[in-house]
Amino acid sequence: MPPMQKIAPENIEKLIRRGVPLRELTTFGVGGPAAILSPSGEEELKEAAKWLQSEGTGCYVIGGGSNILAADEDIELPVILMTSITEVSASIKGREVLITCGAGVNLGKITAMSAREGWSGIEFAAGIPGTVGGAIAGNAGTTGGDMSSVVKSVSAIMPGGAAVDIDESELEWGYRQCGLRDIGHVFIASAVLRLHVSDAETVARGIEKAVQGRKSQPAGARTAGCVFKNPKGGSAGRLLDMAGCKGLSEGEAIVSDRHANFIENLGDATAADIMRLAEICRRRVDDMFGVFLEFEIKSIGFSPSER
Ligand code: EPU
Repeated sequence: MPPMQKIAPENIEKLIRRGVPLRELTTFGVGGPAAILSPSGEEELKEAAKWLQSEGTGCYVIGGGSNILAADEDIELPVILMTSITEVSASIKGREVLITCGAGVNLGKITAMSAREGWSGIEFAAGIPGTVGGAIAGNAGTTGGDMSSVVKSVSAIMPGGAAVDIDESELEWGYRQCGLRDIGHVFIASAVLRLHVSDAETVARGIEKAVQGRKSQPAGARTAGCVFKNPKGGSAGRLLDMAGCKGLSEGEAIVSDRHANFIENLGDATAADIMRLAEICRRRVDDMFGVFLEFEIKSIGFSPSER
């Protein structure tokens, strides 16, 4: 029997909601029903990790659902939803500002706080949707910077439930990549971000620059951000544009006519529409330029042959 059809022990069962359509938890607005396990803090996350290991069950992790394409069918593995882990505290030592935030804290809340207080360092993130945990896991960023420049340490829960603090010196960051993934299935419970005392005007200027940088992107549409990573030394958006992808569509999924690296759900797109469209675009770029684009969006519930 698939693990999520069984009743879990009481301490875990109370965290689970079954049959929740992932379309309600992702910005693309697609995705089939899943068992959602939502810990409200580090202790419950530990219990969940312990239980998953005892069941020998893998899982998916989501935060704000803003970089996720979830399959249309029943999702077999449990989905750990981090958005209830939301404590935030800040301390100032000299010019250094340390913000401890739960994985589920909205990244926008941190950029808003930095704007209000005149704390500099995270201006690049203005306008990036999603949670702090998701942003760290994918080293979210823009041309102005990425999460690697602000993370001082990460508190993670290992498979089986042990807590570890991982210092910045132990994190191996890459483009849209955080070394934690290579350790196996660790869960980011919280992180300490390091900003520095500046003034509200300087921070506002940095934020304005980040906002301007997003002007070429579709606003208000159902997307999951850039579909593909930029290839080394190049731009996925430019290649997709030159390959004539803007306006291509499959069902109700369409390539944005503002930015070719965005796919929009016009309303009733399915995950299959989006995946098919992405593959068509990927093939065009490969055929035309010999560049095989890698997905930036994380997929949930697809078999390896489907992605
Ligand atoms: N371009 C085109 N046609 C397009 C889109 C872009 O010719 O349809 C050209 C632009 O004119 C520009 C170049 O391609 O010369 C790069 O485009 P852009 O400045 O929009 O940046 P990007 O590399 O496509 C990256 C991040 C975005 C981030 C922006 C702004 C990736 C994959 N994307 O986009 O991040 O918001 O910089 O800093 O790294 C995301 O990761 O989900 C994301 C949206």
